[in-house]
Amino acid sequence: TTQTRTWQDEVRALAAERDAVILAHNYQEPAIQDVADHVGDSLALSRLAATTDASTIVFCGVHFMAETAKLLSPDKTVLIPTARAGCSLADTIDVEQLRAWKREHPGAAVVAYVNTSAAVKAESDVCCTSSNAVDVVNSIPADRPILFLPDQFLGDHVRRQTGRDNIEVWLGECHVHAAISPTDLIDTVRAHPDAELFIHPECGCASSAIWLAGQGELPEERVKILSTGGMLDAARRTSASTTLVATEIGMLHQLGKANTRTSFLPVNPKASCRYMKMITPELLVRCLREGRDEVSIPQDVAAAARRAVQRMITLGS
Ligand code: 13P
Ligand code: SF4
Repeated sequence: TTQTRTWQDEVRALAAERDAVILAHNYQEPAIQDVADHVGDSLALSRLAATTDASTIVFCGVHFMAETAKLLSPDKTVLIPTARAGCSLADTIDVEQLRAWKREHPGAAVVAYVNTSAAVKAESDVCCTSSNAVDVVNSIPADRPILFLPDQFLGDHVRRQTGRDNIEVWLGECHVHAAISPTDLIDTVRAHPDAELFIHPECGCASSAIWLAGQGELPEERVKILSTGGMLDAARRTSASTTLVATEIGMLHQLGKANTRTSFLPVNPKASCRYMKMITPELLVRCLREGRDEVSIPQDVAAAARRAVQRMITLGS
């Protein structure tokens, strides 16, 4: 519509004036994804933040993602349309809890999902995202115990993939992915017996899919446990006519664009992240006009948190 075009033009003009690059996570609302310079998963966006030439990064995603961008590009201005866009998973562990956990397991390596505060990252050895968690854990000597935090289901996935039994997992979960229930998954799979299945590793229902495969109800090769970026790669390659998607529903926008021959159906159409959706078209304009909210990281945690994120970035390159 003309109205959308006007809004898009305004955003692009304001971004050019500020020398800003706009990064958007795959869970952002479609209008925000479509106006951004780059759309991606948390790892891809971190890499872009680390290498961009723009002097300002506008991060359309949740706060820990913008914080990670700031850690990787400390000399750039990093803006988020509202600093209130938190993450229920990141909130499941604070730095005091992590210190106490480490005291119980001296010598263990701490692997922190990027869905954590900078203060928690600063107490960790290395970060990971859902797309490189298995590689990060595999980079740690097999006999060294690991504390993996904060997502228990990603932790279970890493345990299954690496076959390691020396991984202690923090019992955190994301309210959106936890709400995609085993019943949602089993009912949807039974209603679409020929479909392929993409599941984000934060979903507790991943174990139900594995159970269905074990029962012979679903060929194992049709169950794909993937990060949001991994889902897009798989979407481009798939020849399935229907693909069931267990993750936040913002994902369906890029999936639909990546492959128009496949129907992508949500396993739970109500799985929407209220924090991701706090980034609205109006707030993006305010952000670009007024330069808010600016992300800053307390000096005392920045250096140590940067080390943990940088270690992750170096690993995959
Ligand atoms: P990805 O790293 O797969 O983009 O996931 C980020 C996230 O917040 C999942 O809820
Ligand atoms: Fe956090 Fe879950 Fe939202 Fe991802 S979907 S940002 S893990 S609350």
